[in-house]
Amino acid sequence: MSERDVVDPLAMRRTMSRFATGVAVITALDGGQPHGMTVNSLTSVSLDPPLLLVCLTTGARTTEAVLNAGRFAVNILSARQEEIALRFAKRGVDHFEGLPLHYGRHRVPVVPEALAHLECTLERQFQGGDHTIIIGHVEQASDRVGAPLAFLAGRFGDVVERGSEPEHWFF
Ligand SMILES: Cc1cc2nc3c(=O)[nH]c(=O)nc-3n(C[C@H](O)[C@H](O)[C@H](O)COP(=O)(O)O)c2cc1C
Repeated sequence: MSERDVVDPLAMRRTMSRFATGVAVITALDGGQPHGMTVNSLTSVSLDPPLLLVCLTTGARTTEAVLNAGRFAVNILSARQEEIALRFAKRGVDHFEGLPLHYGRHRVPVVPEALAHLECTLERQFQGGDHTIIIGHVEQASDRVGAPLAFLAGRFGDVVERGSEPEHWFF
């Protein structure tokens, strides 16, 4: 095998942070306990079948909950839910403490007032370095019109719509 250069992890994080994303919370119920984690590694994979992926820190409580439960919800946050994003990014605390519990189908906990919800069953999992790549099969999708919460260069932000559209949907 040829030798490979190794990029500094902080340089990689900084460089990837130029890729603007939305913000979502992954939620799952494990042994009666709800768990959730803020993510921005969410990507649509396929429409037929309907698949998405998310990369979760291996060993984190929400990752274990998703793997144990075999199902999870993706809650896409609105511009008004920065506090929710911060709450579900705190390490080692009970993320649901003091929050009213809402459930989707199959008793998956969901974040109320999110811009969109996708309920998934666990289709496949892969190890990708220090993260677990979770492929979800989407069983339920709902959304509402509203402004999303954005994340760019390590900060939350707002999206300014330009109104122009690509000529063709590309997937
Ligand atoms: C905007 C943002 C995006 C994040 N994206 C991810 C992600 O895609 N995958 C991940 O594993 N952690 C991500 N994190 C970190 C987790 O939210 C955080 O480590 C986790 O909620 C801590 O929970 P724990 O106590 O269960 O480990 C992100 C944090 C923020 C603020």
